[in-house]
Amino acid sequence: MIGTSKEEGSASDAKSSSYTPPPNVIVLPQTKELVALMTIIRDKETGRSDFVFYSDRIIRLLVEEGLNHVAFVEKTVITPTGVEYKGLGFQGGICGVSIMRAGESMEQGLRECCKGVRIGKILIQRDEETAMPTLFYSKLPEDIASRQVLLLDPMLATGGSAHKAIEVLIERGVPEDHIVFVNLVACPEGIKYLLDGYPKLRIVTACVDTCLNEKKYILPGLGDFGDRYFGTA
Ligand code: PRP
Ligand code: URA
Repeated sequence: MIGTSKEEGSASDAKSSSYTPPPNVIVLPQTKELVALMTIIRDKETGRSDFVFYSDRIIRLLVEEGLNHVAFVEKTVITPTGVEYKGLGFQGGICGVSIMRAGESMEQGLRECCKGVRIGKILIQRDEETAMPTLFYSKLPEDIASRQVLLLDPMLATGGSAHKAIEVLIERGVPEDHIVFVNLVACPEGIKYLLDGYPKLRIVTACVDTCLNEKKYILPGLGDFGDRYFGTA
């Protein structure tokens, strides 16, 4: 993984982009804090424990933003001062679905925000040579059709893996507009492929990178997320 030729690119590979994502792509505000966290995980010299620690911090920000895009209902409570407060409540029925393996890294961040959340799994692996995705397994909550789904995968490259995962969710009766794809690094190619197929999907991401290289790795990217997070490089 890191340092192997498959995902390396020189600075000249990363064309500067004037790409503006469509409105249903929500990119986290590029605060100095977020850019600094991204710089750590993009750095090829960053070791596994820092990679995990700082990825987890970004994942927490992403999950919090993802939860902004599920349904809410108006809710009124009485505060201890006896005053009525007209606020909002989660409509309920949220679940997570991780695209294994790398998406599993995002499950803990979701659990920290949503107590007792149900989490389904879809195992999809991208072929190392062709980048084509294969679906191996899925296990989802029985009542997923009536839930709002946070679909978790840190990398959106060609979009093939996420597209296949959404196909599985739709076959199980989940409406397209009930799916929020929560992602760390996206690119224009993947966004286009997903939204051409599923125009009502929402994507929450920490950044939209420039392009893919000839091996379908994101540039500038961060290499193979799963290998770096799980230490299988
Ligand atoms: C990575 C990543 C995405 C997919 C993105 O997974 O986590 O699932 O590639 O690429 P795509 O948009 O071109 O489909 P990979 O299949 O390499 O497996 P991993 O989760 O075990 O790292
Ligand atoms: N999967 C990754 O982990 N990184 C990429 O750049 C593309 C797919």
